[in-house]
Amino acid sequence: MREGVATRVRAQYERHPYPPVSPFALPSRVPERELSVTLGAELAGSRDFPRKPRVLVAGCGSLEALVVARANPEAEVVTAVDLSEASLRVLARRLVLARIAQPFTPRAPIVAHASDLLGFRSAPFDAIFLSNVLQHVAAPEQLLAHLASMLAPHGLMRLVVYPRASRLWMRAIQDHLRAIGLDAHGERPRARVTAAMRALDPSDPRRLSFEVNPESLTDAGVVDAYLHEHDDPVAPLTLASCMHTCGMRLVAERQTASSRSSFVEEVDPALAALVTSPWERLAILDASLELCANPVLWFARGSSPEPARASLDAMSTPTTLAERLGACVRELDLLLAPYNYSTEAWLDRLAREVGPRVAPPPSERPLQGLALSDYDVAALRSGTPKLRDA
Ligand SMILES: C[S@@+](CC[C@H](N)C(=O)[O-])C[C@H]1O[C@@H](n2cnc3c(N)ncnc32)[C@H](O)[C@@H]1O
Repeated sequence: MREGVATRVRAQYERHPYPPVSPFALPSRVPERELSVTLGAELAGSRDFPRKPRVLVAGCGSLEALVVARANPEAEVVTAVDLSEASLRVLARRLVLARIAQPFTPRAPIVAHASDLLGFRSAPFDAIFLSNVLQHVAAPEQLLAHLASMLAPHGLMRLVVYPRASRLWMRAIQDHLRAIGLDAHGERPRARVTAAMRALDPSDPRRLSFEVNPESLTDAGVVDAYLHEHDDPVAPLTLASCMHTCGMRLVAERQTASSRSSFVEEVDPALAALVTSPWERLAILDASLELCANPVLWFARGSSPEPARASLDAMSTPTTLAERLGACVRELDLLLAPYNYSTEAWLDRLAREVGPRVAPPPSERPLQGLALSDYDVAALRSGTPKLRDA
């Protein structure tokens, strides 16, 4: 089964290397500081971090290793590992182009390996980057433990993880495409999926979600977002428990303000005063469908309190859309009950303080029905979703 997942995922990225950008695209203005190991060491309060760190970019795709090499020019080496040889070929081509087009830009040397991460072992790394990979492996807890075992005692990990419940609309689109028999194997996936989405009512949240997702613009993006061979994100409390088992503690979140645990404080200071664990806050935001961007998390070695409780996991079994939305409400009930806080109070607060999603500029039109707080909670509980009265 595990072998099967890796085989299918490899085949997908052989056909559609990630990210879905031109093979000639080079990082121009990269968020260098955000990807610098020096920043991670500062965040972790680590004083004697090696000056020439060894860095692993795990599941690097066709671009990330180049960006990390540029953000960490002092690194002794950036080791880039990916299942997909096609992705590594594009990476190699980009590197040649970068040397020609950006000859004076300092960057660390890159050494690439085509391998399943679970079968890859090397000397200890000072920093490991794992971005947008965890949801595509059969046993995320095993991969995290394996990566942690390759980390030096002072080592840092930077994870970018897909949220779980907050990708509900993408999951609903995946369900719909599967139900109408659409998969990644035919030609022109973007054209086929776009036609299927345009057949939905213009106000259908699945169509709205598809229309504003930049991944919908390319074949590789469409396959990655909606026709993926294995897309099973880890819920925040499960991730907390895996990292705890690996002996890693969360030291910082670096996503935009509205996809960080501190957003709970901005929306509802009274709730934030009760719920202090960043993991529980992330779980609350996730179940509320508010984690619109993938959380970016830095970890260092160390222990942190055992995370609270297992979650209900609204996304665990394939269900109807109404059931999925209802499960989010029940998950919130479970997360908030120990604090004597009602799901209704929290969602009312979200509706007032945050409101519906809006399309990116220039339209900025409201996208009613994408946020859980757009709905009447009683109707969600009874399995008949309808929008709140204005
Ligand atoms: C969504 S892409 C992310 C690429 C890159 N990290 C980024 O964020 O741009 C996922 C990548 O993980 C790789 N991958 C998935 N499972 C893997 C595994 N078990 N071992 C190595 N690479 C894997 C895929 O081949 C793919 O290139």
